[in-house]
Amino acid sequence: MTEADVQPVFFNPLEPGYVEDPFPHLAEMRAADPVHHSLIERWILFRYDDVFQLLRDPTLSVSDENADWEGSERAALFAKVLDGEMPEPSTSILNVDPPDHTRLRKLVSKAFTPRTIEQLRPSIQAMVDEALDRMEADGGGDLVADLAFPLPFDVITEMLGMPESDSDKVRDWSEALVKTLDPIITEEELEAGVLADAKMLEHLNGVIEWKRENPGDDLLTAMIEAEEDGDRMSPRELRDQVQLLFVAGHETTVNLIGTGVYELLRHPDQYALLHADPSLASGAVDELLRYVAPVQFSRRIATTDITFGGKDIAAGSFVMACLASANRDPEKFGPSADQLDITRPDAGQLLSFGSGAHYCLGASLAKLEAELAIGTLVARFPEARVVDARWNGRINLRGLDRLQLEL
Ligand code: HEM
Repeated sequence: MTEADVQPVFFNPLEPGYVEDPFPHLAEMRAADPVHHSLIERWILFRYDDVFQLLRDPTLSVSDENADWEGSERAALFAKVLDGEMPEPSTSILNVDPPDHTRLRKLVSKAFTPRTIEQLRPSIQAMVDEALDRMEADGGGDLVADLAFPLPFDVITEMLGMPESDSDKVRDWSEALVKTLDPIITEEELEAGVLADAKMLEHLNGVIEWKRENPGDDLLTAMIEAEEDGDRMSPRELRDQVQLLFVAGHETTVNLIGTGVYELLRHPDQYALLHADPSLASGAVDELLRYVAPVQFSRRIATTDITFGGKDIAAGSFVMACLASANRDPEKFGPSADQLDITRPDAGQLLSFGSGAHYCLGASLAKLEAELAIGTLVARFPEARVVDARWNGRINLRGLDRLQLEL
């Protein structure tokens, strides 16, 4: 075969069928061009070792301010939608580098220690039982609407001590906002995301004002106290951390619970195994996290010229880490990497929560919610079956927006 016979591969998440099952395309990319310069102006890493190294390298940035936007299509799209302006960068911990990252992460992390999270077990179990009782009484229902979405949403709302609000409205903003995390978006989607962001921030400003008048024993009050102690957190920083916690708190776990249950039902031997031995629930959640990767991509910005897999990446470039592909890399997880095995001994090496300084703050919480939701459902309903499943159409926060079950 000559060089001319070799067909170049392109990462194309718009390919028909990608959202339903991206893994064959990711495997193709990992094998043929693991350090890929994509047509969407980003580098994408597909191998476990490269992704791991990228996420843990302190010289890379998460701040858009370090990006070289010159000639970029996304910048042009922003300019169009925002009348020539670029968006005000978020100061959430997901978008800032040290020393700000270190200072802010310390202030918000107190509520997320494994011990604090473990104390939520009884109340999360009660929420799960209540939702499953209702579904049982109806002979089944939509797992996403009845449990996978409301559980993490209610838990984070309660942890923050947010007032009762119109959750449909908040959900719509949040959905429009996370769509902009996809590698390819249309002008309409960006416009909707920008508008939703503005509305959500306005709503959160109102919530923070309300909380100043109504302090409680909750995370938002603790963060307001840190903000009132001026030099530790500014009002804008406070608002941006609340937004991140709120959105990250539910837009991801919904996909772990929904897609996780769906995959177990598509692998009846694994479902039966978990039903027979509920003590496997925690390991099963690790394996489902590895297998479905509820957040499929993370991103960094090179601050100096770097090299991956023999390719030179210029300072200012966006580098995407494909967590979903890294989790299925046979060089890391062996020839069975593409199989769901809830007893896999090294499932815990998954990269679904990232790695390094930005490792997911909510990992223990998400795992506990999923363990109780999935473990209880499987223990109680050995005969559950899928009536209908519909994908949410997202490339990054991929998941189901409907999973109709018969119990
Ligand atoms: C299955 C559920 C979840 C998944 C798959 C997930 C995934 C991730 C990933 C991949 C990152 C790191 C991104 C990067 O390195 O660039 C991250 C960061 C983060 N996550 Fe999660 N997450 C989940 C649930 C949650 C929950 C429940 C919360 C909070 C209540 C949360 C809060 C955060 C925060 C605050 C960060 C930023 C950490 C930092 O930048 O220092 N996440 N998450």
